Amino acid sequence: MSKQFDVVVIGAGPGGYIAAIRAAQLGFSVACVDAWENEKGGPAPGGTCTNVGCIPSKALLQSSEHYEHAGHAFKDHGIDVSGLSLNLPQMLKRKEGVVKQNNDGILYLFKKNKVTFFHGRAAFAGAATAEGYPLTITGPGADSISGKHIIVATGSNARALPGAPFDEKLILSNTGALAADAVPKKLGVIGAGVIGLEMGSVWRRLGSEVTVLEGLPVFLGAVDEQVAKEALKQFTKQGLSINLGCKISKVTPGKNDVTVEYENSKGEATTAVFDRLIVSIGRTPNTDGLAADKAGLALDERGFVAVDDHCKTNLPNVWAIGDVVRGPMLAHKAEEEGVAVAETIAGQHGHTNFNTIPWVIYTSPEIAWVGRTEQQLKADGVAYKAGSFPFLANGRARALGDTTGFVKFLADAVTDEILGVHIIGPMASELISEAVVAMEFKASAEDIARICHAHPSLSEATKEAALAIDKRTLNF
Ligand code: FAD
Ligand code: NAI
Repeated sequence: MSKQFDVVVIGAGPGGYIAAIRAAQLGFSVACVDAWENEKGGPAPGGTCTNVGCIPSKALLQSSEHYEHAGHAFKDHGIDVSGLSLNLPQMLKRKEGVVKQNNDGILYLFKKNKVTFFHGRAAFAGAATAEGYPLTITGPGADSISGKHIIVATGSNARALPGAPFDEKLILSNTGALAADAVPKKLGVIGAGVIGLEMGSVWRRLGSEVTVLEGLPVFLGAVDEQVAKEALKQFTKQGLSINLGCKISKVTPGKNDVTVEYENSKGEATTAVFDRLIVSIGRTPNTDGLAADKAGLALDERGFVAVDDHCKTNLPNVWAIGDVVRGPMLAHKAEEEGVAVAETIAGQHGHTNFNTIPWVIYTSPEIAWVGRTEQQLKADGVAYKAGSFPFLANGRARALGDTTGFVKFLADAVTDEILGVHIIGPMASELISEAVVAMEFKASAEDIARICHAHPSLSEATKEAALAIDKRTLNF
């Protein structure tokens, strides 16, 4: 007889492991199955985010930023560094150590919360029976289990260019981009999205000459236009060559390099040769190997598991969350959905507010936003007021020596409710939280303008941007 659980979660990425823990906290018997392996063949829960996504990319962004600052930014502070050199193996080893701490942390949390972990790949073995949905696990933890509720949290994978599969040596997905064993002299990046800009920044700081080829004619189309314009200016100043409106026609790997043929924005046929090529053109949902058809689980036209606003699939008691379903591919969105589903299964009112999910791009300067952009408000015909404040006028930013960028508030012209906050500048990833809280509580710009903010702090720029809505900034 198969092992029976109230809830089985397939996938231990940020969506899956958080859903499993929350379901266990609510008193259910819970299993979580995850296929990820470390280099020794052992389990490595945490999914894309922990193993080849959020965590290792932020570790390398931090290390490469230290390297760059030691190279020149420290000089202005009166710190002279001589004999600076890059120890890439150590930088990669540290990154792996950070990943492992997170893998081990999740295994510990499973034990603490009495979640039964299976290391292997789960597939539906048929339709629901009285015991629940039968699942087959293959791999190190091979087994047969069943769950009254199934939460599919199988995540996503990098999309390859047609005719140019990833070999992770010359043509790199995020996996290879986080593990290159030498700094490429010439690095090509296809796709000026979040991964392209973050990974392009890492390797540029470490010494690569980076060329980014983007298909769309606009830069960071989802970002507020004013912020995107400032970002393009800063990245170009740093030395990233960003080329918009490129139509890639052919990618040919050679012995030690990759040739990319494309049409540039002027329609000219162009050829570029790179030592390594990162392809970061979006991600596709992981549904292969799930045997969704055996249970009758419906996918949408793009291959995502089809769900409603509450992550319900077409099958009773089967749920799906995170990158494998519609919506932004972000770890915190996956987590929110995981908690909401576990609570809904327990009869509570689980809910994810898609209007207040923050976005962060961890470049330098950082870019962060929540809510609608100015161009969206115009398109939606909403009457709004805008106010912004530059970090140049913020005392803490000047003391830090990091005065690039600004905070921008958008508020309803009549009610003053905050509709969007857009930040480019130091610690934007942390500053955005205040805006998320404010929007969750349906605060007005005036609410933020009247709150006491510590001095000197970067958060004063947030308060001043809110004051700017009524043209009453105090320090600009
Ligand atoms: P995943 O994290 O992809 O986890 C899915 C898990 O399911 C994997 O372990 C997989 O092996 C397993 N699995 C798949 N099929 C099966 C099966 N049949 N049986 C068992 N197990 C299975 N997001 C942010 O919010 N902030 C960031 O800074 C950020 N940085 C990123 C950087 C990079 C380079 C990349 C690639 C992504 C980044 N993301 C970031 C996105 C983030 O990683 C994803 O949104 C997040 O991991 C999605 O979580 P998930 O739980 O849905 O899926
Ligand atoms: P993306 O969607 O952010 O960017 C892809 C870019 O590639 C777009 O600008 C698109 O126009 C371009 N593109 C698509 N096809 C192309 C082609 N054939 N030729 C040239 N350009 C092309 O996707 P990316 O960067 O792969 O990242 C995937 C997702 O992972 C992100 O959308 C995000 O959800 C998540 N992520 C989040 C991070 C964060 O939160 N800081 C960091 C990294 C990834």
